[in-house]
Amino acid sequence: MSNAQHTHAEGHESPIRTPRQLITLVVLAFLVPIITILLLVNFVVSGTKSNAGSDAQSPEAIIARIKPVGDFELRDANGPRVFQTGEAVYKAVCTTCHAAGVAGAPKFGDSGSWAKFIAQGWDAMLQVAIHGKGAMPAKGGNPDLDDFEVARAVAYMANNSGGNFKEPEEPKPAAGDAPAPDGAAADQPAK
Ligand code: HEC
Repeated sequence: MSNAQHTHAEGHESPIRTPRQLITLVVLAFLVPIITILLLVNFVVSGTKSNAGSDAQSPEAIIARIKPVGDFELRDANGPRVFQTGEAVYKAVCTTCHAAGVAGAPKFGDSGSWAKFIAQGWDAMLQVAIHGKGAMPAKGGNPDLDDFEVARAVAYMANNSGGNFKEPEEPKPAAGDAPAPDGAAADQPAK
């Protein structure tokens, strides 16, 4: 019988035994939600705060952040190829070595280092630029460049370094590249 009473008492046993524990519990029950709410509010609001002088929220910065990763330019494969200018090719490819004169490359703007290459003449320079020689990789290491683009870059570099070459002429589109003649629409059903 005393056994049954004992079990009964145990069932109602509370972890709070002293007034002090009770006070602690009441204080915590009050403070914890308030601190949680303050932290949450701070978290939500801080999303729009940025450091003084930061342009992290400027429209340009936001557009740059949310722009799609796989950025590409859609080109019509059948359309006439748009060639890069010599300056653009130089800045994208050749500058790696020719800006500072890496590995013995003639330095851009330094007519002294270009003189011996310029003296060889246009065709010799163009051959090396397209096919490579020694530390000079073919097409500057970018096989996607058209020969004409390489030629333009050679003219751009050489002419800024004491040379006086004529801007290379744009190649005429080959016959196969020409847009299909009117006959292409012939197999459409007649009205
Ligand atoms: C990896 C480095 C590197 C890159 C990139 C590079 N070059 Fe060069 N280039 C050289 C070096 C080194 C030489 C000197 C070769 C020699 O001593 O004959 C050279 C020489 C040349 C010459 C003179 C060649 C001759 O013998 O008459 C031309 C023209 C030239 N480069 C054009 C270009 C063009 C155009 C590009 C970009 C499309 C380019 N290079 C990119 C390293 C480079």
